[in-house]
Amino acid sequence: MSAENMEYLTIALPKGKVFGKAAELFKKIGYTAEGLSDKSRKLIITNESKKIRFIITKTADVPVYVEYGAADIGVIGKDVLMESAKDVYELLDLQIAKCHLMMAVAKKAKRKHLADYANTRVATKFPHIAAAFFNSKGMQMEYIKLHGSIELGPIVGLSESIVDIVETGTTLRENDLVEYAFIADATARLIANRVSFKMKFARISKLTEALRQVVNSAD
Ligand code: PRP
Repeated sequence: MSAENMEYLTIALPKGKVFGKAAELFKKIGYTAEGLSDKSRKLIITNESKKIRFIITKTADVPVYVEYGAADIGVIGKDVLMESAKDVYELLDLQIAKCHLMMAVAKKAKRKHLADYANTRVATKFPHIAAAFFNSKGMQMEYIKLHGSIELGPIVGLSESIVDIVETGTTLRENDLVEYAFIADATARLIANRVSFKMKFARISKLTEALRQVVNSAD
């Protein structure tokens, strides 16, 4: 690790829903930087006095930056972390961005048993999670990877079901889908690069403990 990299702690935050909540948690422990916003066109935002660098990336890329050590730590939803299967340490459940992974189907065409969906098509952003779930039920499925608006799948006849996250349930309701099977809870997690965790152990563990206190006090 270069001297410059050793000097700074680089934190990857995902654009979008999780960003604001994660930035707020870090601010509470004194980790912030002027102009830190996911609307910023500047992708690295530095706090020189505290030697912190924030990098703002697409959600799915956070575990990639952390796995390769381009970021020392990062914040990412458990759903994306599970799907990416990256070799990183999961340090803390930040208890933000609460949602869960589930299988949903069209209300009108709801079948009686889960097994009745065997050998049908599943539209999902999470093909690995979906496959692990259906494999655990002994079901062979055809997976169709989409990148967003997953709920369209069963409506337009692309698939019989979806595997996706649900937060408030609004998107399912508005598209006449119903939750059919629960898969896993998913909240945002603090993750760390394995080498950074050893090389910057004091700093990362202090930060983790400070965040843990903030998270626990919010319960
Ligand atoms: C996510 C997810 C659902 C929706 C669930 O999509 O894929 O579509 O949020 O939230 P709800 O239960 O509160 O309605 P996101 O907004 O990230 O956009 P996307 O469809 O482009 O992935």
